Amino acid sequence: MASGKGGVGKTNIVVNLSLALARRRKRVMVLDADLGLANVDILLGLVPRWDLSQVVRGEKELGEIVIEGPAGIRLIPGGSGVQELAEMTNQQREGLIRALSRVTEGTDFFLIDTSAGISRHVLSFAAAAGEAVIVTTPEPTALTDAYGLIKGLSRLGVRLHLLVNRALAPGDGREAAARLQATARRFLAVEVPLLGIVPEDRTVGLAVREQRPLVLHYPSSPAARALEEVADRLAGAPPSPTGGRGGFWQRLSLLWGNRGKR
Ligand SMILES: Nc1ncnc2c1ncn2[C@@H]1O[C@H](COP(=O)(O)OP(=O)(O)O)[C@@H](O)[C@H]1O
Ligand SMILES: [Mg+2]
Repeated sequence: MASGKGGVGKTNIVVNLSLALARRRKRVMVLDADLGLANVDILLGLVPRWDLSQVVRGEKELGEIVIEGPAGIRLIPGGSGVQELAEMTNQQREGLIRALSRVTEGTDFFLIDTSAGISRHVLSFAAAAGEAVIVTTPEPTALTDAYGLIKGLSRLGVRLHLLVNRALAPGDGREAAARLQATARRFLAVEVPLLGIVPEDRTVGLAVREQRPLVLHYPSSPAARALEEVADRLAGAPPSPTGGRGGFWQRLSLLWGNRGKR
């Protein structure tokens, strides 16, 4: 899950889609990989004791930091550890990647909440996954930033999907999506199929303040219903053609390895 701009609703979408997928009997793992603002745990009402930083420092095994959330989803809390990932030695990185591939084994969906913008960090996660959902709002600033991200990711051959959040009316979301899709098609020759439109809904903010996930506690709210539709679409979709989870970790290892070695 990626966005050009911050605050567009990426984390709320990761959290609620994960829960909606889990309720469809899918095994879901979430990695909170937002460099600046790892806050998936907060939206789930969880208080992790440890996060990736203990793993990076060798104080904990990855399996020990994974926590179970509502509906049986599992979360790898990033915390400040996400920043430290970039500073690992090759050997540390290999070890972590082996551990990550072990804990994600057998999961049907592995969702990664990344930072906003086009950093190497985001590009490498998305390129390794081979697939990314671009989240944007209909606002021109968000659309411009989303276009920049589409440009960066499409160059890496990442399969992209579009999710428009906070649409004021159905037409508003559809129009924004069509504009962005047309621009990507015209200037980048890239198709960005629409995964869904989530309406502006005050209940989202309420659920955040209560730290009670929207799809579980406000299932009949308009935003929850839209996210359930997206989950239906994802749950019914064939698996990504990019070679499965094992391939993901190999690619991530290569991509991480390609930056300045220490
Ligand atoms: N569909 C929506 N309707 C209304 N408010 C929303 C919606 N989606 C997100 N928000 C608001 O935007 C804030 C930021 O969302 P968040 O998921 O943290 O964004 P990001 O992870 O992209 O920075 C939330 O706290 C919530 O109040
Ligand atoms: Mg976020």
